[in-house]
Amino acid sequence: METFFQTKKLTKSFGALVAVMEMDFSLKKGEIVGLIGPNGAGKSTFLNVVAGILKPTSGEIIFKDKNITGKKAHYICRLGIVKTAQIVQPFTKLTLLENVYLGAVYGGGKSHKEAIKISEEILEFVGLGNLKGNLASELSVPQRRRLEFARALATEPEILLLDENMAGLTPKEIDDMLELIREINRKGITIVVVEHVMRAVMGVAERIVVLNYGEKIAEGEPYEVINSKEVREAYFGE
Ligand SMILES: Nc1ncnc2c1ncn2[C@@H]1O[C@H](COP(=O)(O)OP(=O)(O)OP(=O)(O)O)[C@@H](O)[C@H]1O
Ligand SMILES: [Mg+2]
Repeated sequence: METFFQTKKLTKSFGALVAVMEMDFSLKKGEIVGLIGPNGAGKSTFLNVVAGILKPTSGEIIFKDKNITGKKAHYICRLGIVKTAQIVQPFTKLTLLENVYLGAVYGGGKSHKEAIKISEEILEFVGLGNLKGNLASELSVPQRRRLEFARALATEPEILLLDENMAGLTPKEIDDMLELIREINRKGITIVVVEHVMRAVMGVAERIVVLNYGEKIAEGEPYEVINSKEVREAYFGE
């Protein structure tokens, strides 16, 4: 059987600091996995290495039986793995349509005509269709989050890596984002959710992986995992 996605002893050091240590992690096609852990645990670093934004120090990354270890972000994105930013940075002087279009052309390798079509469809899908001609700078915080999703979706990913897309949102806005994540997943896209908003992770993830000081300390069903001894110790020093 094909390995959909797997990391083997994936390690990323910054000088003496080991931010991600020998991480074994795998994804089944179509699942939603939550990646949690205290501040500085290595969650963003792990996603950045997987997405090719950072080069791993050692270990391997396999995607659909292909070894993609050390490949650049652009290449990995074209293969089908894309990450949204923890800090949302749309091109504020461009319209929403232009923002998504760039994702479709540069990330997705689409022609001009295809890119326009797909961008309009995606903006509609994330609920920003009526604002496509507006400048990104005019958007509210939750709308910017949706635009970030749209830009990532324009690359037509198989795996979407979400890094804290719900920080600063109200409970209602979080619920809306969770519904959007489920809708994206129903299209068959595999999703990794990194989130401090625990309710959000618990609400969508079928499986949870916990990092602490760069090491995987627990993994399994959401409620089992967050009630485990290792996790309570890591979070609350119990
Ligand atoms: N570019 C970098 N250079 C040096 N150290 C870094 C760099 N990026 C991250 N680190 C360090 O690596 C460790 C892991 O950081 P990372 O940002 O991956 O954690 P995180 O789990 O995403 O935290 P948060 O929940 O606060 O977003 C931290 O100690 C951090 O200071
Ligand atoms: Mg982070």
